Amino acid sequence: MKRSPARPRHDASDFIAARARPESASGPKDAEAAVLAELRPGQSVELLKALHILTRDGRLNQDSRRKLKQVDHLVQFIEKIVAETTPHAGELTLADHGAGKSYLGFILYDLLLKGQGSGMVYGIETRAELVERSRALAERLGFERMRFLNIAAADAAQDADLPARIDVVTALHACDTATDDAIAFGLAKHAQALVLVPCCQAELAASLRQHKALQLSRTPLAELWRHPLHTREMGSQLTNVLRCLYLESQGYSVTVTELVGWEHSLKNELIIARHTGHKKRSAGERLRALLGQFGLQTLLPLRYPALAASAAPAPESIVQEVDPS
Ligand SMILES: C[S@@+](CC[C@H](N)C(=O)[O-])C[C@H]1O[C@@H](n2cnc3c(N)ncnc32)[C@H](O)[C@@H]1O
Repeated sequence: MKRSPARPRHDASDFIAARARPESASGPKDAEAAVLAELRPGQSVELLKALHILTRDGRLNQDSRRKLKQVDHLVQFIEKIVAETTPHAGELTLADHGAGKSYLGFILYDLLLKGQGSGMVYGIETRAELVERSRALAERLGFERMRFLNIAAADAAQDADLPARIDVVTALHACDTATDDAIAFGLAKHAQALVLVPCCQAELAASLRQHKALQLSRTPLAELWRHPLHTREMGSQLTNVLRCLYLESQGYSVTVTELVGWEHSLKNELIIARHTGHKKRSAGERLRALLGQFGLQTLLPLRYPALAASAAPAPESIVQEVDPS
């Protein structure tokens, strides 16, 4: 028997689409009303249509189901973080890096800030046409407290149009090292929380290939990155491990979890960092040790400058330290 291709179960779009076609529904108007009933009070239908999450007739656009699921989940996490946050300047500031079409920023503004009458969302994006499109949409919807900057994430910390402090930093699938730039931005802006879903991490895999992880090359561990595909995956894994250690070393507690099921996206790791002020020295030491083992020391000043500035500990202290946490 010919099997139909496997479909993800528990998909948010299925749920909404099913609700949109209740047995009593007699036409498009009923279907739209059923979808509206599933939205939060005050949630902008115009926005969901503009983002192509809802079609023009108010149904769910099947092509957007993956994005909808990701953004929905992420909003739930961020909503919790925002509730815990006491804004620096009395009103919440949030900066989204690699914003793209600004799905995340728009939905966060709509759900969390619009009704508050305060708070700012900044979108940082290198593609000018996406920035223009977001500006136009914000104007059309009357989302007055959104700003879109056509700049690279690496330049954002110095940009005069951004305030000195930002409460929450997000980066959803910001390409390659833009996630590292978002982390640097968050540290520079004394962010209270960072929410990161990293994308591709080519930089570290390239270094791994070049240096062949000198210290480990004669150990069985070298098998972990012998094949190019494994080199890429190892590079990606190692990049995120180093990012977490760096954040811990700079006064953040870090949790790593899945954003949604793997069937929806291969780039699914959600890193949430909350500022505690407790700079974990051991995390910095482990980061250095990992760089050393993998022959990646040149990345220290580039990606982890706050650690490059401090003196390196003696090698024995790295090996002997046992972190109780
Ligand atoms: C994969 S898209 C993700 C867009 C959006 N965050 C989302 O999840 O829908 C990555 C976006 O990051 C932008 N980008 C890439 N490198 C960047 C950088 N260094 N600074 C700012 N934006 C960048 C790209 O132009 C692209 O729009």
